[in-house]
Amino acid sequence: MTETLVHELVEKYGRKRSSLLPILQEIVRRESYLTPQAIIEVAKELDLSATEVYGVATFYSFLDVQPRGEYKIRICKSLTCDAKNKAILDELEKLLKIKVGGTTLDRRFSLLMTNCIGQCDHAPAMLVNEEVYTDITPEKVREIINYYKHKKI
Ligand code: FES
Repeated sequence: MTETLVHELVEKYGRKRSSLLPILQEIVRRESYLTPQAIIEVAKELDLSATEVYGVATFYSFLDVQPRGEYKIRICKSLTCDAKNKAILDELEKLLKIKVGGTTLDRRFSLLMTNCIGQCDHAPAMLVNEEVYTDITPEKVREIINYYKHKKI
């Protein structure tokens, strides 16, 4: 499966060094995270070392190299948001009963940090998968988490 997908993506994006990021992004979009097997296959196809591919994968916070929950909550940790997100993080950790980097036991939520998502004028900001939330408060966080807890997968 991994081999077939990687081959398909190499056909789509090409074998150049610049193809690496779009290939890794699409694997994560389709398979949820990068398995060691996927990293090895991509490295083989692009004639790179697995260490190099793994280095790129772990540099970008959106390229997960381990299984995450159905909903990936990413809190912005860049300057403007960082000054305002302590109460948000405390609320999320309390609601989800996990720490940053963790995934709930039912595998519905992962709590992660990310760099600036371009919403600095509406800090603090967070993402739930691709959905952007801005000007968040602990109260808004409770509403958002409640919504996803009851949303059908
Ligand atoms: S600093 Fe948080 S969105 Fe830019």
